[in-house]
Amino acid sequence: MHINRALRALIIDDSEDDALLLIRELRRNGLAIEYETVASAKDMGEMLKNKSWDFILCDFVIPGFGGMEALSTFKEFGLNMPFILVSGKIPEEEAIEALKSGAGDFILKQNLSRLYPALIRELDDANSRKAKRRALEELLQTKNALEELNATLARKVEEEVEKNRQKDAVMIHQSRLAVMGDMLSVVAHHWRQPLNALGLIIQDVKEAKKYGEMTDEYIDGMIAGAMGQINLMSKTIDDFRGFFRPKETIETFLLKDNINGGVELLKPQLDEYNITVNAVCDKDMSKCDTCDTRLICGYQSELNQVILNILLNAKDAIREKQKTTGVKEGAINISFTHPKDTKSVIISISDNGGGIKTGVADKIFEPYFTTKEQGKGIGIGLYMSKVIVEQNFKGKIGIKNIQGGVEATIELPLAIDA
Ligand SMILES: Nc1ncnc2c1ncn2[C@@H]1O[C@H](COP(=O)(O)OP(=O)(O)OP(=O)(O)O)[C@@H](O)[C@H]1O
Ligand SMILES: [Mg+2]
Repeated sequence: MHINRALRALIIDDSEDDALLLIRELRRNGLAIEYETVASAKDMGEMLKNKSWDFILCDFVIPGFGGMEALSTFKEFGLNMPFILVSGKIPEEEAIEALKSGAGDFILKQNLSRLYPALIRELDDANSRKAKRRALEELLQTKNALEELNATLARKVEEEVEKNRQKDAVMIHQSRLAVMGDMLSVVAHHWRQPLNALGLIIQDVKEAKKYGEMTDEYIDGMIAGAMGQINLMSKTIDDFRGFFRPKETIETFLLKDNINGGVELLKPQLDEYNITVNAVCDKDMSKCDTCDTRLICGYQSELNQVILNILLNAKDAIREKQKTTGVKEGAINISFTHPKDTKSVIISISDNGGGIKTGVADKIFEPYFTTKEQGKGIGIGLYMSKVIVEQNFKGKIGIKNIQGGVEATIELPLAIDA
């Protein structure tokens, strides 16, 4: 044991000379000692209460006081330090009794050379008791903290899950709004042609009047023509709303309708940019029982959103490539595979838009990650698609570069009744 300070000793003895003898013996062995002496229970109590000590040496026989009484006062304080009895003579039974009652050792004054090793041993013991107690306390604290954590863990997990659910709900909504922005230009493309036709019809009325051709038949024909165009426009709006209207309940639906709906909506825009869409199935698509089979799903509009996100990304990539390389055509290929013995279908949507930019492939599913210029993308399309596919459809989504472009795959479990 390494001691680098003066030890504080409380000596219980009625003889100052005897006390000094003990101290001298310890100092002779190299210990620095500061000490005080008391000779009554009251003084001993005061000293223990008001000062801190490293050990106690106690004479066994003191007039009006005694070793055993001092020992019981010492025990009342519950202190962890050596208590060593020292005496000129001590009957064997009493010595045994004292040791049983908590004295560390007893030393005969005639044999003081035992004092130093006994004290060092007792100090060591006290130290290791202290370390053990501290370790035990720490263990207890950890145990309590763990119990506390255990009790609150379930609640905390629930709270976090709920928070995440709310965050995702907000993002699904946000993403729907973002796609809506794209949809406005989709509607504009759908309307361009009927609006042109309506303009021609209206201009023709003026000509017909000028040349006296305003017959009943002419007016009927004109009204029918104009109404036809107006119905076309209103159908676009209905299709558009139907595609996006969030349903209140989970439903089953045809996968083919879902994909076709997305492609139909984008058709005028894709046509304008010379982007062709090919859809193939590893069975005969026209009578593929699996594509015609119902899927378990969350909300159909959410899967529509996923398909649109991927189609829009493909269109954006192809447009970008057209602008930078001057290539005029683009292609999107959609294929369905139905792996044998699995209750799932894999939809693959690939494009030839040049692929994911270098170094960003591992970030594209992060929320708000985009490589598009400001105003063109907010970077939640793929994040939301992943949340929807994995959480709401219990499926998988993956995106990877292929020769000349990107392939997105979505694996969806089929409905149990499929
Ligand atoms: N088909 C693709 N070809 C090339 N890069 C792609 C393709 N699909 C996604 N990416 C890359 O992944 C990024 C993230 O796509 P994501 O759909 O999440 O966001 P965004 O399209 O940029 O914006 P938002 O969809 O919110 O309008 C894109 O910015 C793009 O860099
Ligand atoms: Mg996107």
